[in-house]
Amino acid sequence: MSAEQIPLAKPVLGEEEERAVVEVLRSGQLSLGPRLGEFERDFASAVGAAHASAVSSGTAGLHLALRAVGVQDGDEVVTSPFSFVASANVVLLERARPVFADIDPLTLNLDPDAASAAIGERTKALLPVHIFGYPADMAAFDAIAARHGLGVVEDACEALGASYPGGDAVGSRPNPAVFAFYANKQLTTGEGGMVTTGDAAVKQRVDSERNQGRAPNMDWLDHDRLGFNYRLSDLACAIGSAQVGRLARLLSSRARVAALYREALDGIEGLTLPCEDRGDATRGWFVFVVQLPRDIERDEVIRALASRGIQSKPYLPAIHLMSFYRERFGHREGEFPVCEDVAARSIALPFFPEMSDAQVERVAGELRAVLARAPA
Ligand SMILES: Cc1ncc(COP(=O)(O)O)c(C=O)c1O
Repeated sequence: MSAEQIPLAKPVLGEEEERAVVEVLRSGQLSLGPRLGEFERDFASAVGAAHASAVSSGTAGLHLALRAVGVQDGDEVVTSPFSFVASANVVLLERARPVFADIDPLTLNLDPDAASAAIGERTKALLPVHIFGYPADMAAFDAIAARHGLGVVEDACEALGASYPGGDAVGSRPNPAVFAFYANKQLTTGEGGMVTTGDAAVKQRVDSERNQGRAPNMDWLDHDRLGFNYRLSDLACAIGSAQVGRLARLLSSRARVAALYREALDGIEGLTLPCEDRGDATRGWFVFVVQLPRDIERDEVIRALASRGIQSKPYLPAIHLMSFYRERFGHREGEFPVCEDVAARSIALPFFPEMSDAQVERVAGELRAVLARAPA
């Protein structure tokens, strides 16, 4: 008998989503209808944000958020090389330059001291990423931004459900924060994103630029600025609202799986687990990424797990070492040693809210067995 296949991720979709989608289909208003504002209000209230703007993806949201804090041609934005490539790409979309700085070895987030050292005359903004749902040190980034007069955009694409030290939810601060709703995320609309902000003017600008530069009070086909089609359909918004309705359950299921993993993987020599919450900051569980012991062939481990029916993947590669970034900016190995070490050793294990205790134990048991056999 072949072993059960355990995928990396699996969205949880319920009857609420089905009902909501059918309702929108029957309404005939598939975009720019009432579900857009509803989803924005539901989401803003879930994270304690003053305003929220739904957009077509996290990437679209980051792009508009950078424009909203004034990033332009020729500027520099200091950000993390240990992220999904979108957080650097969006800087290039505005013909600005992403300037990387190394990460903290524990949280894997942009290191504030390294970020501070990377600031130059052209720096316009900081773009910390709450990687794997663990909140970046925003108090430190606020202090740096204040000292240098910089804008701040948070990449919260992986961090729904996280909270900063002090207990406020990620997304509730005055600066723009951007969430993503791709199928593997805590909340999914298939594709989608949200920009939260404390500033009504930023909300207004994002709303206009996602819709070809049309102000909300303008007539059809009148536009007073350059914009994009970054709209999110009412179908997607309806799915989003249904998921906000059971967000607490979705998040606690993920936290349950993470706690099971932590227990099941305890004590494997050289294996680094995601950092525990520090102080009263809390992670919004998105993925379960472990760093393999040094000198272990990562690809071998991934292959061995796959042969036992378990999906895993390298997660994440260092952005500055991707071919496009090497060629465009001349990046080389050795520039950001902490990031490079972590990126070379990390793998994502299967992680989704409905993982059973037995599935977690099987993944952990197989990983333990594979590592015990791997050549040192
Ligand atoms: C850290 C980070 N930034 C940005 C994005 C981009 O989001 P999207 O795929 O919705 O454009 C993602 C999503 O995968 C992400 O994980």
